[in-house]
Amino acid sequence: MDKWVVVTGAGRGIGLAIARELKNAGYKVAGFSRSTDPAEGVFDYYDKLDVSDFEAVKNFASKIEGEVWAIVNNAGITKDALFARMTEEDFDKVIAVNLKGVFNVCKAFEAKLRKSKGVIVNITSISGLYGNVGQANYAASKSALIGFTYTLAKEYGRYGVRAVAVAPGLIETDMSAKIPEKIKEQMKSMIPLKRFGKVEEVAKLVRFLISEDASYITGTCIEVAGGFRF
Ligand SMILES: NC(=O)c1ccc[n+]([C@@H]2O[C@H](COP(=O)([O-])OP(=O)(O)OC[C@H]3O[C@@H](n4cnc5c(N)ncnc54)[C@H](O)[C@@H]3O)[C@@H](O)[C@H]2O)c1
Repeated sequence: MDKWVVVTGAGRGIGLAIARELKNAGYKVAGFSRSTDPAEGVFDYYDKLDVSDFEAVKNFASKIEGEVWAIVNNAGITKDALFARMTEEDFDKVIAVNLKGVFNVCKAFEAKLRKSKGVIVNITSISGLYGNVGQANYAASKSALIGFTYTLAKEYGRYGVRAVAVAPGLIETDMSAKIPEKIKEQMKSMIPLKRFGKVEEVAKLVRFLISEDASYITGTCIEVAGGFRF
């Protein structure tokens, strides 16, 4: 298969698992992260750049020749604090990466996706659906991403391009490792499946969503959260 997929924030965690899953499914995989070196055997093209840098993303996109079948906007950060203590800098930074970064990538690839009648997958979060204490900036960025996804689905449906949001719950990664152990245990007890999710469980959903088996799925947000709703 000579179809390219692009995964952002592919250095580790969910992004790396998605890249690996899609490589195993036979796609050519392009990815980037801000600072991590590429995992061996996963990428056909890889670079280090900041997703919030419009020109850098545009330059990355220009390096990929051939059919771009899907983009998976996964790069994301948290800068958690209760709102009373949240700084302007931490608000702006989270919006710049989690929301503006997705704008940058979609802009850079939209013409290629129209050509391929491809798929956009945006990794949001259940925080964006239900809100979460300490995450006003993050939840705002992830809610906005859902509205952004629904809008692209409406604008691009006529070209055969699909856009889907994926909302993971609590997944075992470096990001969730920052949560204090005591709070993690409390959270687990509130998750219907009584455990955190695995990165592979998100990756398999993404593989399905970009496949022809999901050809009538667009403009929606699918939770992969073990039933958890903050
Ligand atoms: N882990 C969870 O429990 C969880 C839950 C819901 C949603 N998510 C979302 O899933 C996505 C991946 O999360 P994760 O847990 O794997 O995170 P992670 O911190 O383990 O990995 C994030 C990846 O994104 C890259 N990245 C961060 N900022 C970047 C930037 N400015 N430019 C380019 N790359 C950048 C990092 O280098 C890294 O490779 C994020 O969008 C996150 O919001 C995670």
